[in-house]
Amino acid sequence: MDLHLKGRRALVTGSSSGLGEAIARLLAAEGADVVVHGRNAARAEAVAETIRGDGGAATAAVGDLGTDEGADAVAALAGPVDILVNNAGVYDHMGWDDLTSGDWADIYNVNVIAAARMIRRLVPGMRARGWGRVIQIGGGLASQPMADAPHYNATLAARHNLATSLARELKGTGVTSNVVSPGAILVDHVRELVTRIAPARGWSGEWADLERAASGEWVPNDADRFGRPHEIAGAVAYLCGAYADYVSGATLRVDGGTVRSAF
Ligand SMILES: NC(=O)c1ccc[n+]([C@@H]2O[C@H](COP(=O)([O-])OP(=O)(O)OC[C@H]3O[C@@H](n4cnc5c(N)ncnc54)[C@H](OP(=O)(O)O)[C@@H]3O)[C@@H](O)[C@H]2O)c1
Repeated sequence: MDLHLKGRRALVTGSSSGLGEAIARLLAAEGADVVVHGRNAARAEAVAETIRGDGGAATAAVGDLGTDEGADAVAALAGPVDILVNNAGVYDHMGWDDLTSGDWADIYNVNVIAAARMIRRLVPGMRARGWGRVIQIGGGLASQPMADAPHYNATLAARHNLATSLARELKGTGVTSNVVSPGAILVDHVRELVTRIAPARGWSGEWADLERAASGEWVPNDADRFGRPHEIAGAVAYLCGAYADYVSGATLRVDGGTVRSAF
């Protein structure tokens, strides 16, 4: 299958690790010219270098998307892009009692306003050129939140909401706006988080035991496991490609059935 990504330029925010890295790698393997992004220059450049080593086209752009200045710098380094994947974000495992109003404001800034910053800077060019793809990485916790991390859950809901609004805004422009909604996906950050909360939950043993316990009790799903980053990348690549021209305002869940509702 040819997704027709050759000649398309893609910025994947937060692609110096985790899901973003897998997305950048797959888009590059499919022929896109990829901009790898993060705050850490060494990590972003290392990912870009391995993509180039695999025969792909990649450069690195560094900047903190939690500020307008950082977003300006990243947009300038990226140049005109056809595909924007708003993936950069943060999450932790704080509960209602510990979260200050500052924590709520900070996570909203990085997880939601950062995406709006990049949309404002990059989507006008897509609209002018008559083709584009904007993808938010959302999450099952948007519609099925757990008691923990309410500040994070709420930011995921905002990402889904803004993506739908953007789809309406982009009516007739050739630019689509969609969400890929992961369940719990095994990246280093998630492994650390699960390992940290395991003792309090009575989970023990090797990583395989912890994953089995966590996917059974914490994020129960029909696949009985955590997802893997390449499984998210595949959904993003589909939405970026030519087979998804008629898909806009949609949410593509990749969660093994973690979210229980039919719609
Ligand atoms: N893993 C999951 O189970 C899961 C599930 C649902 C949704 N998600 C979403 O997927 C996205 C990626 O998460 P991940 O699991 O892959 O975690 P990760 O490995 O920690 O990746 C986070 C990325 O975001 C970047 N980032 C963080 N704060 C930033 C800022 N202020 N400005 C610019 N870049 C920033 C990081 O780059 P630097 O470290 O270089 O700054 C890193 O590249 C997040 O938005 C998360 O909400 C993840």
